[in-house]
Formats: sequence, C-alpha cells, structure tokens
Amino acid sequence: MEFVTLPNGVRMPAIGYGSYHLFPWKTRKPLTFALEAGYRLIDTANIYLNERTIRRTLKNLPYRREDLFIVSKIWPTYFRDEDCVERTLKRLGIDYIDVLLLHHPSGDFLAGYRKLEQAYEKGLVKAIGLSNFFGEKLEAVLSQAKVKPHIVQLEAHPYCSEKAVLERLSPYGTKMMAYYPLGHAENGLFQEKILQDIARAHGKSVAQVILRWHVQKGFIPIPGSDDPDHLRSNMDVFDFHLSDEEMARIATLDTDRRFYVPTPKKEAHYVRQIPFLWK
Ligand SMILES: NC(=O)c1ccc[n+]([C@@H]2O[C@H](COP(=O)([O-])OP(=O)(O)OC[C@H]3O[C@@H](n4cnc5c(N)ncnc54)[C@H](OP(=O)(O)O)[C@@H]3O)[C@@H](O)[C@H]2O)c1
Repeated sequence: MEFVTLPNGVRMPAIGYGSYHLFPWKTRKPLTFALEAGYRLIDTANIYLNERTIRRTLKNLPYRREDLFIVSKIWPTYFRDEDCVERTLKRLGIDYIDVLLLHHPSGDFLAGYRKLEQAYEKGLVKAIGLSNFFGEKLEAVLSQAKVKPHIVQLEAHPYCSEKAVLERLSPYGTKMMAYYPLGHAENGLFQEKILQDIARAHGKSVAQVILRWHVQKGFIPIPGSDDPDHLRSNMDVFDFHLSDEEMARIATLDTDRRFYVPTPKKEAHYVRQIPFLWK
C-alpha cells in the first residue's frame, strides 16, 4: 500500500474502502473480506448507520488500532450538538478518529466546523475537513477556519476532477478523497473507448485504470464493492504507471459531469433528517 501525506503530516492509505452500501445487518462479511484483501482505510459516516457494526466487526478481528485508518462524517442535524464528535467515536468504539468531515454544507455548518477544530485541538481527531462544500459555503468555512481543511471528500472520476475547488484549496495543501471514484461503475464511464484502450495496453481492467488515474492525480479513491474479485483487483493498482500522454487522453473525458447534484432543497432536507438507529 502506498500512502498520501496530509498537510499536517498525517499519512493515510492511498486507497480506501467505501462503506456506504454496508447496511448494518450486512457489514461484517464484506468488511472482513476487505481487511483481509489489504484495505486499512475505512470510510463511513453517521448517516450510513453502520458505525456500530463496524465497531463490532473490528472488535472480533486482530487488527491494531494504529494500523487502521478510520474516516467518518458528521451529519448536519448534529452540527450544533456539543458531543457530536464524541458520540461518533463512541459508536465506532475508538478514542480518536483519523479523519472527521462535515458531510454536507447544510444547517449550522460553521458551528459544526468549530466542533471539528476543537476536537482536533484535543487530539480526538487527527485531521479534519469537508465533504460536498463548494462556492460561498466553502468560502464561509475558509474565512472562519483557524485550522484549514486537511482534506475534502468530493465526487471525482474521469468525468469530473473538481479542478476549481482544488485550485482554490491549493494554498493549504488540502488533499482530496474521491467518492463515486468509479462513477458507480455505470453511467457509461466503463464503456469509454479511451479507458478501454488504455486498460488493454496495460493488461488491466477499466476499473484499475480509473483507480490508477486517481492515485496519480494525488486523489484518495474509496471504491465500494461487495464482490471479492473487485475488492482484490481494486487494490492491485500499484504495479503499473499511466504515461503523461495517457493521463492527457483521460483528461479529455472531463466535462464536469457529476452524478450527485446538490440543490438547496436537498440541503434543506438533510438538516431535518434524524437517522433512527443512532439512539
Ligand atoms: N461524501 C459523500 O457525500 C459520499 C457520497 C457517496 C459515496 N461516498 C463514499 O464513497 C464510497 C464509494 O461510492 P460508491 O460505492 O457509491 O461508488 P463507486 O465506488 O464509484 O462504485 C461502486 C460500484 O462499482 C462496482 N464496482 C466496484 N469495483 C468494481 C470493479 N473492479 N469492476 C466493476 N465494478 C466495480 C460496485 O459493484 P460490486 O459490488 O459488484 O463490485 C458498485 O456497484 C461510498 O461507499 C462512500 O464511502 C461519499
């Protein structure tokens, strides 16, 4: 496994396991398999409702806490709650978390960011950041932040590499975790001739070429999968290199096309959602 270094010196695995699809009642088997396949970064969130089952799964496995890298996201309903960070740690059964993000720019996100900063100062969180923040809301956080985001988690794949946000954050050295890194493995990305030709030339799959593209961009992709063959092959991207010419051909696919499109209506709804399994 290769590592990416965040601007505060924290080293994180270059590829992680996205756990959005792990419903609480079906977490144990795929997560165990992912760890056996070599994943050490687990991406979860309050809203995935699987923080507790991740804790229970890890409890029965032989991995040391310091060898795991756990990322979670605070849901907007809880940005104002004094103990929203501590409750996240408690659900996960850990006394510090490697990365904690605000999930969406909804509700009182400035209060939420202050909670992250306080937890960072106390050592409860090793690195902090934002997910799905753009434009004015991103600027609002940056203007008040004492600790600038070490990391952002945004949708990214060859159709959308979020150049504008990354350029804005470049003075801070902020790194990018890429969600939907495979574009959900649908929506045409896997059928792109450019990717298929490059995959054939390297004797790799299209998914491996996309993940290698992320790694060479300096992104940290977090693909999700239940399929043991996919889980294994998605990690097997460190033995080949895309040339500058291949990276340039892939760049021609970038049309700023996202599969998740934020709207004011969605964001207003998020702050009213109370995930029922938390209590
Ligand atoms: N911050 C946010 O707001 C946010 C939003 C969405 C997601 N996320 C995070 O991002 C993670 C990844 O998102 P995602 O799983 O929706 O998107 P994804 O990783 O782009 O796509 C997952 C899909 O790709 C398939 N797949 C995986 N590896 C493959 C391979 N080698 N060949 C062919 N198909 C393959 C999976 O099916 P199989 O099971 O058949 O492999 C699954 O259907 C989530 O789990 C979550 O942690 C964050």
